[in-house]
Amino acid sequence: KIFVILICVSTLAMGCKTGNKTQTDSLRIDIANYKIEELSYNGKEFKVRAYQGIIYVKKTVDSIFHSMNIYIPEEYFNGKSINGYTAETAPIFYPNQVGGYMPAEPASTTGTKFMPPLNGNIPMNPQELKERENTVIVALSHGYVVASAGARGRTNKNTDGKYFGKAPAGLIDLKAGVRYLKYNDDILPGDANKIISNGTSAGGAMSALLGATGDNPDYLPYLKEIGAAETSDAIFASSDYCPITNLDNADKAYEWQYNGINEYKSGRGANSGASKLSENQIRVSADLKSQFPKYLNSLKLTDEQGNSLKLDENGEGSFKEFMKKQVLISANKAINEGNDLSMHSWLSIRNHQAIQIDWNGYVKYMERQKTPPAFDALDLSSAENMEFGTETIDKQHFTEYSKEHSLVENSKLADAKVIKMLNPMNYIGTSNTKTVQYWRIRHGSKDKDTALAISAILTLKLRNNGFDVDYLLPWDKPHSGDYDLAELFEWIDGIVK
Ligand code: DHB
Repeated sequence: KIFVILICVSTLAMGCKTGNKTQTDSLRIDIANYKIEELSYNGKEFKVRAYQGIIYVKKTVDSIFHSMNIYIPEEYFNGKSINGYTAETAPIFYPNQVGGYMPAEPASTTGTKFMPPLNGNIPMNPQELKERENTVIVALSHGYVVASAGARGRTNKNTDGKYFGKAPAGLIDLKAGVRYLKYNDDILPGDANKIISNGTSAGGAMSALLGATGDNPDYLPYLKEIGAAETSDAIFASSDYCPITNLDNADKAYEWQYNGINEYKSGRGANSGASKLSENQIRVSADLKSQFPKYLNSLKLTDEQGNSLKLDENGEGSFKEFMKKQVLISANKAINEGNDLSMHSWLSIRNHQAIQIDWNGYVKYMERQKTPPAFDALDLSSAENMEFGTETIDKQHFTEYSKEHSLVENSKLADAKVIKMLNPMNYIGTSNTKTVQYWRIRHGSKDKDTALAISAILTLKLRNNGFDVDYLLPWDKPHSGDYDLAELFEWIDGIVK
């Protein structure tokens, strides 16, 4: 009791209302248990209270991947403000470190852990690794409270040989993390009604799912199973870098873009030797490409002016024109920022304005990275096949096409409900769901880990349902994230303040 009183006294400045939640409740944060970290960014030195390794669920199955780090600027414990934010108003930045649908540790203030996402065995370009700032530190220096949850992933296996991180486990964990922050909002500085999630690639997909599926009951049994706090998991905004999402349609989208490019480079940087598609892969590419228009048209998407965005059976039409326009917007931004793009023969530039794009030339310039089917591999060799495994089956298909054409005997198709739960497109604006209003979606104009259409479709579906999306294809960016934190934080400040 004395302990509780002491904690309440020490947190009086932020208003300690324990209500019917008790300090013996394992989901209540021990606010007195922190380490001071002295950080610096851009010449500014500052202190934060670091709460690290918090287990954010009651029935954890893993003490690393179910742990969370929370960092709070020291000023917020002294009644001060940073960048106009106070202990009551500071948003909570919620980055995840999921990459390749692998298990992820929570982000921290030390650089080595905050690695860019890895796609299984494809390392990022070392130059990019060096240039990367620690997102947590930059966010703290900007006045945000930063919380990051670990999450289970596709390779987690317990001592009984059972997998415990297959879909939708990683998403469930990130939702449970949100619930933990809300459950402790009365004790923790920062506003848990202003949680902004952030992620890249598979982590971008997770961030999109957090944004699309808030409080949807489909996920409840899984949240119960791990003993997540019984409160809302709806967030405030979703920042998604190159989300590798909409997996059950991504193979078609990839071939709509890359059909005809029969050479591929599956490595990055120094490992980028070229190989040729096999005859069978070329056939598969044509099959998948021909399926994309039907899917795209079924979405009934419209542009900002209400014009419908469609494709004919050859994959031509207003949706393709929309995509070209997005690349032109990106090119013109780059030109206006002083870049010379005249070396790209597939771009027509007049009076310092990119006015036309030769789509095939552009796609050739991007180069194909993946073999068809890009995600649901016929030999079950992809990261996504593993993501869709079960407790006892390591790898499964998740599309009818790949199941039918599988090269693996007795291969299985994942449960339709799990496939549904991992695709944000199924939840946007649906009943019983708190899809967030604010979105920021980025996909580099040279990012070929998934088709450009995937983030575009997500954007359009959101906009068509009345949500605000700040969407851009940053010029020539390869598969990466967090490369424009100043702009990201400007966007966050704009929606929060
Ligand atoms: C990631 C990249 C991929 O190409 C993919 O298929 C899945 C995940 C990633 O970087 O997280």
